Amino acid sequence: MNLGLQNRVAIVAAASKGLGLAVARGLAAEGSRVAICARDARSLASAAESIGPDVMAIPVDVTDAEQVSRFVESVRARFGSVDICVTNAGGPPSKTFEQTTTADWQAAVQLNLMSTLHFAQAVLPGMKAQGWGRLLTITSVSVKQPLDGLILSNSVRAAVAGLVKSLANEYGAFGVTVNNVCPGYTATDRLNGLAGKLAADQQTKESVIKERWAALTALKRIATPEELADVVVFLASDRASYHTGASIAVDCGLTRGQLG
Ligand SMILES: NC(=O)c1ccc[n+]([C@@H]2O[C@H](COP(=O)([O-])OP(=O)(O)OC[C@H]3O[C@@H](n4cnc5c(N)ncnc54)[C@H](OP(=O)(O)O)[C@@H]3O)[C@@H](O)[C@H]2O)c1
Repeated sequence: MNLGLQNRVAIVAAASKGLGLAVARGLAAEGSRVAICARDARSLASAAESIGPDVMAIPVDVTDAEQVSRFVESVRARFGSVDICVTNAGGPPSKTFEQTTTADWQAAVQLNLMSTLHFAQAVLPGMKAQGWGRLLTITSVSVKQPLDGLILSNSVRAAVAGLVKSLANEYGAFGVTVNNVCPGYTATDRLNGLAGKLAADQQTKESVIKERWAALTALKRIATPEELADVVVFLASDRASYHTGASIAVDCGLTRGQLG
């Protein structure tokens, strides 16, 4: 299948490791020109080098609207347009409701909702004007079913799913699709951190926590970042032309509450 991604210009946010890096690699492998960001300049530079020779990498904190806007402008200045934008960020901490503070809630909104909004504001007018675009958000399977101990994520991701659905309806007439991809348990540093915290809380081993997670899936295993990235790459492509306004779980049957 020709995905039609050759020479498309793609931004992948929060891509120095984990899911973002896998998505950036996937898009670059299909011939797209890729621009990535994350906060730490050193790990960002080595991630860019690992992707390929013509990768743009700018340190950006995605919670800062000004930095996001400057980043998007510099991508346009170098590559001529922005065709694809994959929003992503770190995840909020694992806490129960009573452990959270108002500051935690504000930080989660900044990290996972406002960062998405900053990219949407910066890229959608250009996509509309050129009559083609793909805005993709990476959230969590918690959009489908809340995850224990992740009340901040469970709550704030739902707002992103609502934003995606609304944007899809507003921008469809201009050739722009907007979709949300919801990872299940996927092997990254973030997942290791969550497993470590739960293991400490429950006085067990990290490997036991991961086995429990794997047992919740149909294939009885945790995903690789590439398995998530392949779905994002397809949705970013010409081939996904009739797919918009959806929250697509890549969770291997983890969520049980829906037949579709
Ligand atoms: N892995 C899973 O199983 C899973 C499941 C469901 C949902 N998710 C969600 O998917 C997203 C990505 O997860 P991951 O597992 O790939 O996480 P990860 O391995 O911790 O990687 C996070 C990436 O985001 C960057 N980042 C964090 N905060 C940032 C900020 N404010 N501005 C710019 N870049 C930032 C990090 O680089 P810097 O620290 O240098 O900025 C890093 O490149 C998270 O929101 C996570 O909660 C993951």
